[in-house]
Amino acid sequence: EDALHRQGFGSRRECRGLVFNGRVRVGGVAVDDPERPLTELFPIGSEVARVEGSLEVDGREWPLREHAVVMLNKPRGYECSLKPRHHPSVMSLLPTPLRLRGLQPIGRLDEDTTGLLLLTDDGELNHRLTSPKWHAPKLYRVQCRHPWTAEATTKLLAGVVLDDDPQAVQALAVQPLSEAQPHTVLLTIGEGRYHQVKRMVAAVGNRVDGLQRVRMGTLNLDPGLAAGQWRWLQPEEESALRASLALD
Ligand code: URA
Repeated sequence: EDALHRQGFGSRRECRGLVFNGRVRVGGVAVDDPERPLTELFPIGSEVARVEGSLEVDGREWPLREHAVVMLNKPRGYECSLKPRHHPSVMSLLPTPLRLRGLQPIGRLDEDTTGLLLLTDDGELNHRLTSPKWHAPKLYRVQCRHPWTAEATTKLLAGVVLDDDPQAVQALAVQPLSEAQPHTVLLTIGEGRYHQVKRMVAAVGNRVDGLQRVRMGTLNLDPGLAAGQWRWLQPEEESALRASLALD
């Protein structure tokens, strides 16, 4: 019951109900005693947080993690705000237990931007990944109105001034795609200012028609994840991400 509650399955009462109704299984066996500590069911380790195990609730596997970190392939038409104004929130794409745990997007993508969005209930991880001090590189696939030019590449690498700050922003990398796709460019930036990619592209006389984030820090958007789908980070992915930020 306690473990379920901490994983976001509702109030303690609701979690007891799940157990009593036979909806929870551990290691393939139905659990019928809500008082039974999980550590007894998983002999290894003493902390639930460290237990390499998973629960099954209503037939769906649920990994036990101290903090939730998930990746979402954000579709168009969703806002990253928790209080969206014109479109549904990305939170509506996640199951209730994750919402109840208080997951929040790590940084924001515009309503019309698609691709890799990480969400977590780990405040420290969220802070590090979005902090200007850490400059986690973010890679975007940019679909431009006009063909990309070598001059635009040079200017973005040298740095452009955006209207809200005299401090120039530089692209960390600019990679035009093949000549067959002259309107598409891969752009890596370190900061995460408001509409940054759109404004950088506008600053070199072009315009963004489509924007997809494909990488953030050490993580690539999983090509197997359709728009609107989410998945847990694998433990190795999560540890590589934390190691890159000097978090363990
Ligand atoms: N830059 C933008 O302009 N929009 C995004 O959604 C992300 C980066």
